[in-house]
Amino acid sequence: MFFLHGTEIEQLTKIKKAIFNNMPFDDLEIICKEVSISLNDKGFAYTYAACLLASEDKISDAKKMFAINGEDTFCKIMYDYLEETNSFDLADQVFKSADPYNIYTQTDFFKKHQGGALKYIRKFAQESAPPKSVSPVTILDIGVGNGMFITKIVNEIIPLYDIKNIRLIIIDQSEDMLRMAKEYCEENINITVEVISICCKIQEITKEQIEIIQNTKPIWFINTGLSIHYMPKEKKIPMLKQLKAFSPKLVLTEVNWNHDLPESNSPELFYSVAKSYGVFSESILHLNVSEERRKLCLNNFPIAEAINIIKQNRDNRIDYHTTIEEWRKIAAAAGFKTSEAEATYTYDNKPFAFVMEMY
Ligand SMILES: C[S@@+](CC[C@H](N)C(=O)[O-])C[C@H]1O[C@@H](n2cnc3c(N)ncnc32)[C@H](O)[C@@H]1O
Repeated sequence: MFFLHGTEIEQLTKIKKAIFNNMPFDDLEIICKEVSISLNDKGFAYTYAACLLASEDKISDAKKMFAINGEDTFCKIMYDYLEETNSFDLADQVFKSADPYNIYTQTDFFKKHQGGALKYIRKFAQESAPPKSVSPVTILDIGVGNGMFITKIVNEIIPLYDIKNIRLIIIDQSEDMLRMAKEYCEENINITVEVISICCKIQEITKEQIEIIQNTKPIWFINTGLSIHYMPKEKKIPMLKQLKAFSPKLVLTEVNWNHDLPESNSPELFYSVAKSYGVFSESILHLNVSEERRKLCLNNFPIAEAINIIKQNRDNRIDYHTTIEEWRKIAAAAGFKTSEAEATYTYDNKPFAFVMEMY
């Protein structure tokens, strides 16, 4: 949802050239000042330079640049991170442990976004009844996380059809998340639940794992909550084709960000990263938790993701969030139709996060 105009991109490219030509810091600052005049978001000239410097491991210059635009949330958190760690490396593997994610689920952003998604899914479930006379009813959840979201969904929709027992197939690439989700679902779902856990990256699901899922068909629907953006467009299409073979209906809950198609080091990519993670991190900064917990969440979730996108070439990014328009194209290429996207969280009157149905 954060895009630059063509002329802004042209101007910002001057900064990239200057950095790749090893221009001294003081001269670079002058270029940034000149470029900033032609930008809507003036400070982004410094953010862009800081990100490029950081990705070249010029930590001290990157810090100075982030400090110049220190009013900006993204620059502030990145400055603090560099000050603390003196490196532009990931704190740890994102989602290796469930703890940072559990802290994030207390944010206003998450609660509002999840509330909106839940309302949408209730309406979706009302209009799309489960397959008739099938017991138990089966739902497949991809990237289940800590299990809280799918638990809320199930508890919200079972009264619609007086469902007495349910089978949940939960998939996640993290053993820790999967273990926690299984326990959480078993303890908190209001009816009898059978949980089948499958540990894999969904784009790398094995034949044996596919067979386990096929044997549970028909599957009412597939839920994907912020969980299928971890691969580039080329892999999203076959992955969605596979999901379509499991169930004709899928609910996609995602952020409307632009981190898939833009080239590495491009102004478009870094603009989307800085603005999106800035807004996202605001909600973590406002959390009523200890400084230690806040840092744990920031360093291991938004900052780790942002560093990865900034530093890696496109093939090696972990996150490939993409826009509503792109999801529509990807869905169509995989044989799905899409509903209107509904915003679950807006920023500047535009969808920052959204939910949509594929069918
Ligand atoms: C942002 S969390 C979302 C959790 C939950 N669905 C929710 O909405 O609260 C993303 C989850 O997807 C998992 N994940 C990441 N890449 C994945 C992949 N390629 N395949 C399956 N799960 C993945 C992560 O381990 C994490 O638990």
